[in-house]
Parts: sequence; C-alpha cells; structure tokens
Amino acid sequence: MAKIGFIGIGKLGLDCAEVMAEKHEVRGYDIYPRTSDSVRVCDIAELVDESEWIFIAVPTPHAEGYDGSVPSSHMDPKDFGHDAVIDAINKVNTYAKTSKKVVLISTVLPGTTRRKFITLLDTRHQFLYNPYLIAMGSVKWDMANPEMVIIGTEDGELTGVAGELIALYKTIMNNDPRYEIGTWDECESIKIFYNTFISAKVGLVNMIQDFAMKIGNINVDVVTNALARSTMRIMGPKYMTAGMGDAGACHPRDNIALRWLAEEYKVGYDLFDTVMHARELQAKNLALYLVEQAELLNLPIVIHGKAYKPDVEYCIGSYSTLVGYYIKEAGHKVVYVDPLADNPEDVVAAIDTPAVFLWAHNRKITYEYTGDQVDTQPYCEIKEGSIIVDPWRKLTTTRKDIVIIQYGNTRP
Ligand SMILES: NC(=O)c1ccc[n+]([C@@H]2O[C@H](COP(=O)([O-])OP(=O)(O)OC[C@H]3O[C@@H](n4cnc5c(N)ncnc54)[C@H](O)[C@@H]3O)[C@@H](O)[C@H]2O)c1
Repeated sequence: MAKIGFIGIGKLGLDCAEVMAEKHEVRGYDIYPRTSDSVRVCDIAELVDESEWIFIAVPTPHAEGYDGSVPSSHMDPKDFGHDAVIDAINKVNTYAKTSKKVVLISTVLPGTTRRKFITLLDTRHQFLYNPYLIAMGSVKWDMANPEMVIIGTEDGELTGVAGELIALYKTIMNNDPRYEIGTWDECESIKIFYNTFISAKVGLVNMIQDFAMKIGNINVDVVTNALARSTMRIMGPKYMTAGMGDAGACHPRDNIALRWLAEEYKVGYDLFDTVMHARELQAKNLALYLVEQAELLNLPIVIHGKAYKPDVEYCIGSYSTLVGYYIKEAGHKVVYVDPLADNPEDVVAAIDTPAVFLWAHNRKITYEYTGDQVDTQPYCEIKEGSIIVDPWRKLTTTRKDIVIIQYGNTRP
C-alpha cells in the first residue's frame, strides 16, 4: 500500500484521490474546506510529511472571460495561470523532510514545466508530468479506464520513478491502458493537442451542420457518418506523421473552393482560410530553415522531389514548389531533382557539389497503406559534405560524410 498525497482536491483531484484510496493510504490538502469518506483531508505539513507520492491537481486557470462560455476569440491570447502550481511546489520544498515523488497533473502549455517549475523544485525530489485525459461527470471511471496514461520525464526515458508510477497505476486500473512516455514538453503537448484535436474535429463537423442548414437537402449525419466510417485515411493513423504539407491536384483547391462556398452561403466564418494560411506559413517556416542552413554552410538548396508525391509526374498543387517559392522569396536560389516531374522549371539532373537537400518525398509514408513498403531511393548522387533535411524523420545513413537533420525532432 503506497502513501499518497493530493494537493488540490477539487473537481478532478478529489475523485482521483478517492479512486487511489480504494487501494492506498491517501491524504488530501486544499486551501478550500473539503470532505471525503475515504481520503484523509489534512494540513499541508502532514500531507507532505506522510506521503511518498505527491500529486498536484491545483487549478491552472485562465483569466476571467477566457473559459469559452462567452465569446473570447476576439480577446488577446493568454497563457494559463501558474500561481497555484508554484505555491504547491514551494510547499513541498518547505515541508518535505525526505525525498518525494512529485507528480504534476494540472494542464500546462508545452515548455512550461522546464521553463517555470523544475527550477523551483528542490533537487532532492523526483518529478513527473502526468496530465489526465479525464472528463467531468465520469472522473472516477475515466481514472480507472484511461485510453492512455501520459508520463513525462526530463529526457523522455522510462526512468525508475516513471516505472514506479506505472506500477502504482496498475494497482487501480480496470483496463490495460497504453503508457506513453515522453519528455515533459512532449507530454504537455500530448495532453493539450489531444484536447485541441477534439475542438478542431467538432469545429469541422459542426461546419458541415452549418452548410446543411444553409444549402438544403443535406442531413449532416449522412455526411459525418460516411466520414466516420472512413478508416482508411480520416479516422486512423494515416496523415498523423508531420512532414510536407497537404498537396496535389485536389486537396489545396478543394479548400480554396470551400472558402468560396463559406462566403457564398454566409456561414459567417472561414475555417479553410486558417487551414490554407497555416499550410503556407508552415512551408515558409521550412523554407527559412533551409535558407538558414544553406547560408550557415554556404551551400546551394536542392529540393529532392518536385512532383506533389513520389512516383507521379504531377507538380500541380505541389508543396515542394510552395517551399521553393518561399526560398526564392527569401532571396535564395533553389533547384529540384525529380526524374518524373512534369514541370521542368529549375529541375536539374545531377548535383555536382555538396548541398542542403530537402527530402520532400517519402515513398513508404505515401504508399505503405497499399502494402508497398519500398522507401525513396536518391534521385541523384549526394556529394560529401551535404546536409539532408528530412521533414519525415525516417532517413538513416551509414555515410559519415553527410549529415541528416530530422526536421521536427528537437530532442537533444
Ligand atoms: N476538471 C477536469 O475535467 C480536468 C481534466 C483534466 C485536467 N484538469 C486539470 O487539472 C487541474 C485542476 O482542475 P480542476 O477541474 O480539479 O480544478 P478545481 O478548481 O475544481 O480544483 C482545484 C482545487 O485546487 C484548490 N487549490 C487552489 N489553489 C491551491 C493551492 N495553492 N494549494 C492547494 N489547493 C489549491 C482549489 O481550492 C480547488 O479545490 C487544472 O489544471 C485542470 O486544467 C482538469
């Protein structure tokens, strides 16, 4: 039986503490008077002194008017408040006579733990970031039946204390969840992007509802049920690998056309403006990264793959050329290698010098759903001293004379 303390026993913390109390000795502390039949509510000194594990479930509130119950999208964006978490950490430092295993549950934005909290906690304590995917109304059930348990450590490794936390959870779980281990920052991201994926998804299906109301002869459920059953591309892991942006003859222009439809039927907003704008700025960010590398090393830039995907000649709607556009806009030259490309502008057959390559094509990611597992083979010789920027983070090499940069992986 473990000795556990919960700092903050509000809407989330109290129910979670009570689930833990079914198997363990659990204390709870809150600045607000709380009662429980199974959790011993006590002062902070007793809680810290008596507990081996200290879970922090205090609020990370938004400022007044930012909860989404009234319009707020016109207001300045703001971070969550961190005072209560900082207060809880300070109290652990003050009252702990021995080393504690401190577990932060509260929701914070990516980077917050490393930037704001970890420097405050005494080094004798161990720290994990462990946000919950729990919903009001079903806290106790969600706690014992989670889809996944997210555990963040300093370096993303399953360190001893993270393993101990898994062992602790195994004593209370009714299901056999996934345990997702990452850096603090990755786990902060998993939690917040999990929630915002849901917001984006609901925003999309409700937009179809708006179109149904405006256009007529559409039952939104017929549309969303067909999409919900689309497990090949939409409902599943496909398109969940960050890399080159959406491209081709259809997708970009479909978004552009829907922008027109939204205006024509006066739905009052334009989600696709944001989607297309993000696509363009993501291409620009990648382009500027390539330019930075090229200028640092005084090398030319080559985009490896000009057609919108491997094995086809079509350059229509190509994300490679969009990246190329922004490279040129930044005042740099760019060429492409692609044996199939149907647009010969700036395409060369060979690269005779070292260069900064953008590895735009990845056959395996594009076609693996068909069972085809063959990876992209180089379209030209890669000279010694080259840098390959791989936006898919899959490329490996045994060559010592070239460097591969995994774009999107900033772990040290
Ligand atoms: N409620 C949910 O469904 C849910 C789900 C997942 C994550 N979260 C996150 O968990 C955190 C807590 O959420 P909640 O809904 O339980 O909030 P809450 O406001 O209901 O509970 C927080 C509790 O902490 C107490 N508290 C405030 N400052 C304190 C301090 N300095 N020391 C000790 N206790 C203090 C409050 O009195 C309150 O009882 C938030 O970061 C939230 O985003 C909530």
